[in-house]
Amino acid sequence: MSNFAQILENCVILKGFMAFTRITAAEAAALIKNGDNIGLSGFTPAGTPKAVTAEIAKIAHAEHEAGHPYQIGIFTGASTGQSCDGVLSDEQAIRYRAPYTTNSTFRKHVNAGEIAYNDIHLGMMAQDLRYGFLGQVDWAILEVCAIEEDGKVYLTAAGGISPTVARLAQKGIILELNAFHSPKSKGLHDVYEPLDPPCRKPIPIEKVTDRIGTPYLQLDPKKVVGVVECNIPDEARSFKDADPITDKIGENVANFLMGEKKRGIIPPNFLPFQSGVGTTANAILFALGSNPEMPQMEVYTEVLQNAIVDLMFQEKVKCASTCSLTVTNDKLLSIYDNIDFFKDKLVLRQSEISNNAEVIRRLGLIAINTAIEVDLYGHANSTQICGTKMMNGIGGSGDFERNAFLSIFTCSSVAKGGAISAIVPFCSHVDHTEHDVNIIVTEQGVADLRGKSPIERAHAIIENCAHPDYKQLLWDYLKISQKGQSWHNLAATHAFHDTFIKEGDMHKVDFSKFA
Ligand code: COA
Repeated sequence: MSNFAQILENCVILKGFMAFTRITAAEAAALIKNGDNIGLSGFTPAGTPKAVTAEIAKIAHAEHEAGHPYQIGIFTGASTGQSCDGVLSDEQAIRYRAPYTTNSTFRKHVNAGEIAYNDIHLGMMAQDLRYGFLGQVDWAILEVCAIEEDGKVYLTAAGGISPTVARLAQKGIILELNAFHSPKSKGLHDVYEPLDPPCRKPIPIEKVTDRIGTPYLQLDPKKVVGVVECNIPDEARSFKDADPITDKIGENVANFLMGEKKRGIIPPNFLPFQSGVGTTANAILFALGSNPEMPQMEVYTEVLQNAIVDLMFQEKVKCASTCSLTVTNDKLLSIYDNIDFFKDKLVLRQSEISNNAEVIRRLGLIAINTAIEVDLYGHANSTQICGTKMMNGIGGSGDFERNAFLSIFTCSSVAKGGAISAIVPFCSHVDHTEHDVNIIVTEQGVADLRGKSPIERAHAIIENCAHPDYKQLLWDYLKISQKGQSWHNLAATHAFHDTFIKEGDMHKVDFSKFA
């Protein structure tokens, strides 16, 4: 091949005169050295680069086999998939990672104490990077569906923290041009990065679908070291099917909200919804959408799951703003195939905008997130099992619950076949304090905590939300507690958890020994 032909072969020729170098995923991965920090596009596995990180794992494997150290830091929008968190954690290639993750392989390594994992509010991640709190971003790796000659790129299924990592990357930007994502999606994004204090301006979003930025991300073309072409589907998980418990939680949430509308607390046309991740959240959205009294819904959220796409097709959801399309691949392709239907109804934003406290308060969101456990006073634990083992992370639940018009937490009243009560005397880990939680909903019922003192809350939660098998045990705990602003018996606050760890069943707790 002539030199000229070789140069042409290696270039991704764009519409104009500008060309970026085409490189393989392995060549891109070879640029990333031990100790580097990479910043990724995406938010959840949606929109996360997949080709280069899988190759980094191979390099880590070879380096470790050769007896050389190889570990990197990872900054993401939210979770990633198996081709990032999964393979890299399995190769002991992650020294540090922030923020949220759902990958079970990664979870295993974090809970073995092998990875420095920093569980940050997702709405704060880009800002924390800009403020320099987390160290230097060396490389940005961005998944895109189209590139223009002057460095404009079009992101795929998520907004994430892309503009920030692209701007901060000191060593360069690698683009994954993933043909799985249709360039038809070009108009979905609204790319906007706020200025930092003291120059920050108000974020002028007054309606769910307001656009305040550009449909593309403008890169400095000089920073782009190469384009990796690939065709890899997204790795979004599908969730367990709804079951009678999640259906009942959904029904309880829907009935509660309809009651609030009837008594004039929620305006007749309702307020926009944010809904969390997981099986329970998906079921709740279905329940809300199927309620005949529910007006057309608006959604302002960070993660758009399958249920919302279906409800948009059925015109039960009028419009949605999100940071990511965390949907199964068939749903994602149905959005691309029906892009004319979605273009004026769907906006993809950066996580610091989708989760922005100022916007969430202005719009007056109804935030519904799932907790692992809640306690008698309304504290909620979203992240850690029995106080020590990380499940996923706080995600955006703190961003939304702290600032919403109505802050709702849902959970099944029991877990692990009834051996665990999700209503406990005191949470084994607190992500959301009693000051940020308005309503708790289980399949048993609804506890409205608004305007109540701590002991009034405890009564409402035991009466309405606890599983019948655990009610008496929770009353017993209050009986042995010292009266005060909050009633507690400090020696017994975690007796439920301790009993589960030692005996495998919270039912076996014996409060008489603490009396
Ligand atoms: N103790 C121990 N394990 C518990 C538990 C408890 N109190 N409550 C739930 N679990 C376990 C379940 O048994 C299940 O385990 P499995 O995977 O082995 O079956 C697992 O936690 C997930 O629970 P599940 O009932 O399937 O709930 P989900 O899919 O609705 O997810 C969270 C629940 C809390 C894990 C999930 O919502 C989450 O990660 N939340 C934090 C992030 C967030 O809220 N983001 C919001 C903005 S998008």
